[in-house]
Amino acid sequence: MSSRKWLITGAGGMVGRDLAAALASRDEAFVALTKSDLDITDSRRVDDCVAAHAPSIIVNCAAYTAVDRAEEEQAAANAINGSSVELLAQAANDAGALLVQISTDFVFDGAKREPYEVTDAPAPVSAYGCSKYLGEIAAQHAEKRLIVRTSWLFGVHGNNFVEAIRNQIRKGTDPLRVVDDQRGRPTYTPHLADAIIRLAVQDARGVVHYADEDECTWFDFARAIAEETNANVTVKPVASSEFPRPATRPAYSVLSTERYERLTGARPESWREGLREYLSVRA
Ligand SMILES: NC(=O)c1ccc[n+]([C@@H]2O[C@H](COP(=O)([O-])OP(=O)(O)OC[C@H]3O[C@@H](n4cnc5c(N)ncnc54)[C@H](OP(=O)(O)O)[C@@H]3O)[C@@H](O)[C@H]2O)c1
Repeated sequence: MSSRKWLITGAGGMVGRDLAAALASRDEAFVALTKSDLDITDSRRVDDCVAAHAPSIIVNCAAYTAVDRAEEEQAAANAINGSSVELLAQAANDAGALLVQISTDFVFDGAKREPYEVTDAPAPVSAYGCSKYLGEIAAQHAEKRLIVRTSWLFGVHGNNFVEAIRNQIRKGTDPLRVVDDQRGRPTYTPHLADAIIRLAVQDARGVVHYADEDECTWFDFARAIAEETNANVTVKPVASSEFPRPATRPAYSVLSTERYERLTGARPESWREGLREYLSVRA
């Protein structure tokens, strides 16, 4: 067993649960704190918890993730996704720990038509995206920091696009109308968990993008879900303008994983493989 000790915040969430499982399967020492164990907006509790557990790596999986609601609740989103990260950064410094902050493709405006590099400047177009960018800035207070941006997550312990499509199929919706003018990289959360562990263990620092291969649109992703579930349904491509939502999504948010590949020597996993595993695990 290594001398590493991990502390996970937001451990009841979709990524937090898969990260805890991935650490357990590797016999890593870790403590997994859910929101009821540790509210990351509570500065005293953050200091006390980090001091008590003395981790060498803190992975912040806690976040305000309601993208549309954030437009109305910007203060709450900023407090959880922004200011709290500074508290964690300070606590990480006191403990001499690495802070791993999870961020998002939504920090970009989506104006590019080629993959976003880690050196591209964030320009969020939603309140949620702004709050996550604040979190990246706050993470800079950590002397040892790793910011892992990822995208279009799906995992068995959370609500996600795969479940939304399966629910539509179960309800008998036909045709399924799915937007075909937003491009990104779906990512299976156990793959993200593996990537985070690989990066942290080899002391990667700075900003790294991890997303599964390959890029696609939501329409392509929905078609794959229909195929893999043998659903007898027509999937129809539509424009985002047909589904107006409170928060603007970037039209193009494909993350380049070149730095991840260079640092780890590993290729990103396939989301299609992840989807098959997901469907075999989640009833
Ligand atoms: N989902 C995506 O598609 C996506 C894409 C890119 C990046 N990300 C990022 O990935 C990370 C993990 O997201 P996820 O998908 O796992 O989200 P999630 O399932 O919503 O998990 C977030 C967890 O944080 C908890 N939490 C909320 N406020 C908290 C607080 N003040 N203190 C402690 N815990 C708190 C939530 O608890 P409650 O549920 O009880 O509030 C929840 O368990 C986030 O940083 C997110 O921004 C997500």
